[in-house]
Amino acid sequence: MVAARWNCFSFQLVFAISFIFSIAEVCNGGRTSSFVRNSDLSRDMPLDSDVFLVPPGYNAPQQVHITQGDHLGNAVIVSWVTPDEPGSNSVFYWAENSELKNSAQGIVLTYKYFNYTSGFIHHCTIRDLEFDTKYYYEVGIGNSSRRFWFVTPPAIGPDVPYTFGLIGDLGQTHDSNSTLTHYELNPAKGQTLLFLGDLSYADAYPFHDNARWDTWGRFIERNAAYQPWIWTAGNHEIDVVPAIREVIPFKPYTHRYHVPYTASGSTSPLWYSIKRASTYIIVLSSYSAYGINFTI
Ligand SMILES: *[C@@H]1O[C@H](CO)[C@@H](O)[C@H](O)[C@H]1NC(C)=O
Ligand SMILES: *[C@@H]1O[C@H](CO)[C@@H](O)[C@H](O)[C@H]1NC(C)=O
Ligand SMILES: *[C@@H]1O[C@H](CO)[C@@H](O)[C@H](O)[C@H]1NC(C)=O
Ligand SMILES: [Fe+2]
Repeated sequence: MVAARWNCFSFQLVFAISFIFSIAEVCNGGRTSSFVRNSDLSRDMPLDSDVFLVPPGYNAPQQVHITQGDHLGNAVIVSWVTPDEPGSNSVFYWAENSELKNSAQGIVLTYKYFNYTSGFIHHCTIRDLEFDTKYYYEVGIGNSSRRFWFVTPPAIGPDVPYTFGLIGDLGQTHDSNSTLTHYELNPAKGQTLLFLGDLSYADAYPFHDNARWDTWGRFIERNAAYQPWIWTAGNHEIDVVPAIREVIPFKPYTHRYHVPYTASGSTSPLWYSIKRASTYIIVLSSYSAYGINFTI
């Protein structure tokens, strides 16, 4: 009995120690930055800031962003907004070393929020991509078309190296810009960003001024058009304001940020999972049950 207990204890000890070693080995990223955020509350960047510039050309696609488009990483959802008219739903795309241009057709939608009417929001899933390959893609028409690129992840497997970034509560303050710049300049070179909820903070404005969702989309494009941002909703995405008859939770978020929830058999974009390289990412939204009668 005693011996048996001891055996059990030593087994646990060995297990605990090897677990600690494995944490140290696998997870010790070290201290990567001496960055300390200013304690003053930072203000939102003004509307005429460089980060909010509208791309030139009639009806030019703006707020371009991508996310994973299926369960294993062979598809990408490309999303963008055209301001003046629906324009084209097509995405043209080709592998770096290929002459062959493929095209895929997406959908376009709009929504209203109090007295705001959105631009034309396009979502297009491009499928059957090769793993570990650089692709270029184009959206828009003629001389207003715009070209971007992304790199698909390696095939999934237990030991596949891959680097994720983590950002949450980004908003659009001057600090938001230094957070994004900090991520971009990190020598570890994040390949995909896990976004932990609370995107634009448009809900801080009177009537949740949804024009601040558009400025946020233009702000993050410089990164989110080139690598997938994996989305989770936070409390700032609920956007329910019964006083102005806005009672559908997550309306701006779910119209603007599409995710591959059906690929994991989910019935809600707030709950889904994907595999990517060596990870299995499960997205849970603790706010998804919040409806009309909620308190934050
Ligand atoms: C935001 O950061 C980028 C890159 O670091 C810089 O070029 C730009 O001027 C900054 N804009 C504002 C409004 O701070
Ligand atoms: C919406 O209504 C508010 C309050 O009346 C007003 O300040 C704002 O300019 C309006 N916005 C639009 C897009 O009409
Ligand atoms: C873009 O094309 C349109 C129509 O095809 C033309 O009217 C316009 O001048 C062109 N703009 C530039 C900058 O080339
Ligand atoms: Fe937050």
